[in-house]
Amino acid sequence: MDARELRDLAVDIAKEAGALARRRRSEGVAIAATKSALADIVTEADREVELLIRARLGDARPDDGFLGEESGAERGASGLTWVVDPIDGTVNYAYGIPHYAVSIAVVEGEPEPQTWDAVAAAVFAPTEDELFTAYRGGGAWLGDARLAVGEPGDAGALIATGFGYDPATHAGDLERVAQIMPLARDIRRAGAASLDLAYVAAGRLDGYVERGLQPWDHAAGALLVREAGGVVTGMPGQQPDRPMTIAASPSLHAALQERVVLLAENGSA
Ligand code: IPD
Ligand code: CA
Repeated sequence: MDARELRDLAVDIAKEAGALARRRRSEGVAIAATKSALADIVTEADREVELLIRARLGDARPDDGFLGEESGAERGASGLTWVVDPIDGTVNYAYGIPHYAVSIAVVEGEPEPQTWDAVAAAVFAPTEDELFTAYRGGGAWLGDARLAVGEPGDAGALIATGFGYDPATHAGDLERVAQIMPLARDIRRAGAASLDLAYVAAGRLDGYVERGLQPWDHAAGALLVREAGGVVTGMPGQQPDRPMTIAASPSLHAALQERVVLLAENGSA
């Protein structure tokens, strides 16, 4: 399969998975367990949706590896790994806020964000019925519309962020918000990292900064941003990863990264 065909497979599975998540949500959601922190929850639907995705990928691509939020990692023999968040925005999902997504990416190389090369991605928000897709060299798309990152206007940038589940990191996250606020017209915290990145790709957000993301939070969204002409990195010289994710147009990205680095150099966040 070439990159486009891998994208098509990701799309088919994301749509089926999104429909299942939506159906389960309408039936009512129960929290199954807490994970890294009390606020870090998993519902039965997260698990069921991931199992569906894993089964479909296992049928279609038995030699590929898998790295999912809920069911763990398995190495493959093909050099490709599927990086999956079955429901990104689980807290929104559990509270009945419609902003959540299925995020599926396929990456080449070691299943490790510093070195992998993303090949194709689909981020599907079932309640909003929005499908964001990309494949390497093929552009980023919302349905049939090609995406391009935006540039902030005179009023400043609309910047999204998020706060990890670990309460010990919240003070630092808030310091970072204060540090980037001079560049912002306003801040958004919508609750699903894959969609924050998709919205940067779509020009609905000018930029996005968050510490603490897991590989499945950013794998698909980062390819969307790059294919839409944007830049997505971690700290200088790094790919997006747990320590930092910064996404924006090239000029805003540089300004955001400078502020994030300044804060880090001053011994804060
Ligand atoms: C979370 C969301 C949230 C981000 C967290 C993620 P989950 O993913 O993407 O926006 O702030 O860092 O863990 O737990 O809903 O899949
Ligand atoms: Ca997630």
